[in-house]
Amino acid sequence: MTDRIIPIVHATRMLPAGTAVVSGGTLTDTLGRHLHDLRISVTDRCNFRCTYCMPREVFGNDYPFLKRTELLSFEEITRLARIFKSQGVKKLRLTGGEPLLRKNLERLIEMLAPLDLDLTLTTNGSLLAAKARSLRDAGLNRVTVSLDSLDETTFRRMNDADFSVTKVLEGIDAAAAAGFSNIKVNMVVQRGVNDDGVVTMARHFKGSGHIVRFIEFMDVGSTNGWRMDDVLPSAEVISRINAEMPLVSLDPQYEGEVAERWGYRDGSGEIGVISSVTQAFCGSCTRLRLSTEGMLYTCLFADSGYDLRALARSGADDAAIAGAIAGIWRIRGDRYSEIRTADTTRRGKVEMSYIGG
Ligand code: GTP
Ligand code: 5AD
Ligand code: SF4
Ligand code: SF4
Repeated sequence: MTDRIIPIVHATRMLPAGTAVVSGGTLTDTLGRHLHDLRISVTDRCNFRCTYCMPREVFGNDYPFLKRTELLSFEEITRLARIFKSQGVKKLRLTGGEPLLRKNLERLIEMLAPLDLDLTLTTNGSLLAAKARSLRDAGLNRVTVSLDSLDETTFRRMNDADFSVTKVLEGIDAAAAAGFSNIKVNMVVQRGVNDDGVVTMARHFKGSGHIVRFIEFMDVGSTNGWRMDDVLPSAEVISRINAEMPLVSLDPQYEGEVAERWGYRDGSGEIGVISSVTQAFCGSCTRLRLSTEGMLYTCLFADSGYDLRALARSGADDAAIAGAIAGIWRIRGDRYSEIRTADTTRRGKVEMSYIGG
């Protein structure tokens, strides 16, 4: 029996001394990257136990999830989002855990909508059929749904919570019916687990208007037992799909786009590949992540973050918080995926369910 793995949650870094905020301009980090996206985790809980994200032997019944008082309130999230916007953020993505488990999430969306940012959400789809319409009505702009396989046995094995493919497909249909367009479907590909379903997934959504993105299995956190051998390189994904449904490379839609875009040669839509392992995209990484309890992380693979909740609850005014955010971005030098080695993959890092995918 191995020692129980305790995931890292809130190791804290010292806030840099307040620096000048930007007004109208753009913040630049030490590698010349601009701040553009903020991903906000609204809960560290999930009703799935995907083996690559929240393995049940670690995230079991006795797992110490955050308590209610530890979570940022909707008012705190909205205030911080407004301050992030003042520092250049243009896109907000709500994540988790499973964000639809957060009570009254629609209310948060209503509060964030007037900020007039690209407001998006990543969900596992299990509650989407019931909530798509109210999310849309609340002002959500876009939605991304995770779906790792169309094969019931494989899907249930991967989510380890007995959720069916049908339920997620119903959620996607409900989202389309509620008026969401360009719905994205994320499939994390693990060699030997679900990689035999890559072409089936592409074929299923070809011509649907939805965009499947194939994500290389990543070494996030320290509990998912990642091994390089389990990664199916995106080049292989493209080659398998291209052999049956010819593809052409498409230009990125914006600077720093995570997914590399490919279109079907017959014009029936597009797919994307996210190749954090084999083709790192740190050079254009414009993202910050805010955890459920208000810790700010400058990289998905961070081992510690900055405690914005403590700052906000200490009575700091908006200008002081904006100064802290500006200072954090200016000293940022993260490029984990570019410098990944066998050694770094074994290092402790925050869990994806806590920091937000
Ligand atoms: P849109 O282009 O706005 O739809 O969003 P996006 O490309 O940011 O997509 P999404 O947020 O759905 O991200 C897709 C997946 O890419 C995530 O779930 C992660 O697995 C991965 N990803 C996103 N951002 C990063 C990042 O900064 N670093 C790494 N290594 N992976 C990332
Ligand atoms: N590697 C790649 N993607 C992951 N996700 C969660 N864990 C990993 C991992 N280890 C994906 C989820 C979801 C998004 C939030 O991140 O499947 O689509
Ligand atoms: Fe939940 Fe998403 Fe993690 Fe799966 S990948 S356990 S659905 S947070
Ligand atoms: Fe950005 Fe870190 Fe991902 Fe590189 S590894 S793209 S720096 S979040």
